[in-house]
Amino acid sequence: MSVLPASSREWHLVARPHGWPTPADFALREAPVTEPAEGRILVKNLHFSVDPYMRGRMNDVKSYIPPFQLDHPMDGGAVGEVIASNAEGFAVGDHVLHGLGWREYADVPARHATKVDPALAPLSAYLGVLGMTGLTAYAGLFDVASFKEGDAVFVSGAAGAVGSQVGQMARLKGASRVIGSAGSDEKVKFLVEELGFDAAFNYKNGPVKDQLREAAPDGIDVYFDNVGGDHLEAAISSLNVHGRATICGMIAQYNDTEPVAGPRNMAMIIGKRLRLQGVLVGDHYGLQQQFVQEVGGWLAAGELKHRETFVEGIENGVDAFLGLLRGDNTGKMIVSVTR
Ligand SMILES: NC(=O)c1ccc[n+]([C@@H]2O[C@H](COP(=O)([O-])OP(=O)(O)OC[C@H]3O[C@@H](n4cnc5c(N)ncnc54)[C@H](OP(=O)(O)O)[C@@H]3O)[C@@H](O)[C@H]2O)c1
Repeated sequence: MSVLPASSREWHLVARPHGWPTPADFALREAPVTEPAEGRILVKNLHFSVDPYMRGRMNDVKSYIPPFQLDHPMDGGAVGEVIASNAEGFAVGDHVLHGLGWREYADVPARHATKVDPALAPLSAYLGVLGMTGLTAYAGLFDVASFKEGDAVFVSGAAGAVGSQVGQMARLKGASRVIGSAGSDEKVKFLVEELGFDAAFNYKNGPVKDQLREAAPDGIDVYFDNVGGDHLEAAISSLNVHGRATICGMIAQYNDTEPVAGPRNMAMIIGKRLRLQGVLVGDHYGLQQQFVQEVGGWLAAGELKHRETFVEGIENGVDAFLGLLRGDNTGKMIVSVTR
């Protein structure tokens, strides 16, 4: 029998946010830690993920994923070390990826845990570039948008976890031009100078439509949408005949309290024979092996860069999430559990 910590701190949703969430909607509470039952493992979380989709789970609405329950721990991607095991195939000291983040210690059904190797990549990478957000970029660009060599690609949210990978993957596969938008001049500089985008602009500096037209005078063939709103409308205007758009996220409206108007130029979809298609990463786990092999290769060769923004301490988990919605992060936002 191992000596277990007496308790674990965990973040609960205690009120459903209306509009922007505030710290008062969350509480950090203590829960007892017990030996894992048959088929389960106890994991000391080292990093957990905060993601935009979690905002949707704070609303009590039917969606592709159930809402968070009030006064229960929130969940989401996490990586950690097994400190007690009652499951075949898992030993103390193993590192695992699982879905019970937002807490210090997680009692995880072993069938929901995947072993990961910290010697192959830093553990946090399994939450980002080699994990959910990386696969979203890969599947959304190659499967959903049917990217092909020579395409001009525009990605919004370009300095974030998904967007920064989309732009680089397009470049590595022979895009004729890669354009990104982001919310600060510093992020724009990062895109062009560090990630090799051909052009980038700060969407806060002027109308997206004008800035996109200037950055892509010959139009775009693929739009990877992380933002929605005026970005989507601008992209529809700039897409070339037979262009494709992957609708991955609409973060500009996640905190809206009223339904928002759609793009005003939808009729262009007809004349240009555009294809706009949603993506959910959960549909694409069949690509996982191919994704890890190809992206792992690019990472090992130094051809693909990835940035992470770390927030230290579980007590700062909610601040990290709110910061993500505000754009405090460059690359993947990660909370490191430091107790
Ligand atoms: N469909 C799927 O399966 C799937 C999976 C993963 C992610 N997603 C979606 O993909 C998008 C990116 O997710 P991520 O995990 O990579 O997050 P992320 O881009 O790393 O972080 C979110 C970013 O959104 C930007 N943002 C916030 N409000 C904005 C606004 N009003 N207009 C424009 N940009 C805004 C901020 O950057 P700036 O400083 O640039 O504003 C912020 O850094 C999200 O929409 C998310 O919901 C979808």
